[in-house]
Amino acid sequence: MSKTIIVANRLPVKIQENNNEFNLMPSEGGLATGLGSVYKTDNNIWIGWPGQVIAEEKQPEVTENLKELSLVPVYLTQDEVLEFYEGFSNDVLWPVFHYYASTYTTYKPSNWDYYQSVNEKFARVILQHCDYGDTIWIHDYQLLLLPTLIRKERPDLSIGFFLHIPFPSHEMFRLIPWRAELLRGMLGADLIGFHTFDDVRHFLSSVSRILPMPVSSNVITCDERSVVVESFPMGIDEQKYAGLTSMPEVIEQANQIKDIYKNNRLILSIDRLDYSKGILQRLQALELLFEEHPEYIGQITLYMVVVPSRDTVPQYMHLHDQIDKKVGNINAKYRTIDWTPVSYYYRSLSIETLSALYSTADVCLVNPMRDGMNLVSKEYVASRTNNDGVLVLSEMAGASRELIDAIIVNPNNVIQVKDAIIEALNMPLDEQRRRMKQMRSLVAKFNVNHWVHIFMERLNEVKLLQRSMQ
Ligand code: UDP
Ligand code: G6P
Repeated sequence: MSKTIIVANRLPVKIQENNNEFNLMPSEGGLATGLGSVYKTDNNIWIGWPGQVIAEEKQPEVTENLKELSLVPVYLTQDEVLEFYEGFSNDVLWPVFHYYASTYTTYKPSNWDYYQSVNEKFARVILQHCDYGDTIWIHDYQLLLLPTLIRKERPDLSIGFFLHIPFPSHEMFRLIPWRAELLRGMLGADLIGFHTFDDVRHFLSSVSRILPMPVSSNVITCDERSVVVESFPMGIDEQKYAGLTSMPEVIEQANQIKDIYKNNRLILSIDRLDYSKGILQRLQALELLFEEHPEYIGQITLYMVVVPSRDTVPQYMHLHDQIDKKVGNINAKYRTIDWTPVSYYYRSLSIETLSALYSTADVCLVNPMRDGMNLVSKEYVASRTNNDGVLVLSEMAGASRELIDAIIVNPNNVIQVKDAIIEALNMPLDEQRRRMKQMRSLVAKFNVNHWVHIFMERLNEVKLLQRSMQ
């Protein structure tokens, strides 16, 4: 029986070593949480990095443990983590793709060398595990070269690629010295998917200007082969999030939260530590709100969860310090003897705690400066089984194309974000319900299973079409 091989830089679990024992923890981030619940069907496998450097002598034991979960590790050395993961992936591609490139961005050739060699390493592991008729589904910006590396060896396989982050406009993308190589790497896929139509447009424009290759509608002709490019907005496991809200453990935690904040309206934010998430801008909006509307002092609390992420990359370390400082300033300035304006948590939470927070918060504030999709916004909606609550959502998140009943804001406009918080806090219940119902039915219908299904169906169609033209 043929299988699907999911390939992503990160496995859906990460390894943590404690006193010579290995513990498996769930990975954070939309790719891992979103796909984590669907890859386990049939005899599918997931190939990726277990998130830590593992000494060579321990690798067989780790490989064996992961095998039980249908996971196949790709081990990275410390240098590879530094140059491929922290360097090229997260200090070049991530900022450029999120419109953060500046004249100070350094494009180190050694980062690029490692990016190529680690993509080749992934290719070798895939080739050891694939059989005739398998489908290879490659994910995200860390592995842009992989589709072509696989195609060179196994042109018979169906190869899909999905980018979970925005694809930037040609004017940004062309800054990267190795832009043509990156595009050629992606074009090894039969089907290339993005979250939004704008990403598709930007990608096609880069292909036609940089390579250049003929592009007609959403099809690229590459070495006499047709590569199809389309948008597939990713969904979540809606039933899981809706179902969690009725679990006794979640209800108990939700009641505790309600009790602690019984005199306050709760505004929730949940993000990985990342400058693309607008965390500092959110704090500025809150500060402005207290300055202009002192009547809210003592009445509202921002419950802000920041999940540690990439904190060995200098920009992330710096952001962490800035957030600590800003939260400290706001709390020092406005707190009272029995009230703190920002309840700030720098840690990851269990899914039960997340669900308790989603189901209790009056407002969920999602204000990224750029985001491929943003699954947190969809998880909040799915958790509002009473149809109340208000979502404030940045127009720069892919999710804003679907969740049009949220209060949509430009995250650069701090005044607008502040006004949106006030509007959300004062929205009449029937209006909340009207909006939330619409969003819930959309999140339920276009869930993660639907996303996997339509991507795979389209990939099969494309492959069949290609075969019929050979
Ligand atoms: N998340 C998590 N642990 C936490 C907090 C959040 O696993 O402590 C999850 C959250 O539920 C969501 C994902 O991390 O599924 C974040 O995905 P999103 O698309 O919002 O942003 P990304 O981190 O991928 O940029
Ligand atoms: C985003 C990216 C993923 C990445 C995740 C967590 O969701 O799209 O590819 O895995 O962030 O980041 P990390 O660097 O910890 O893998």
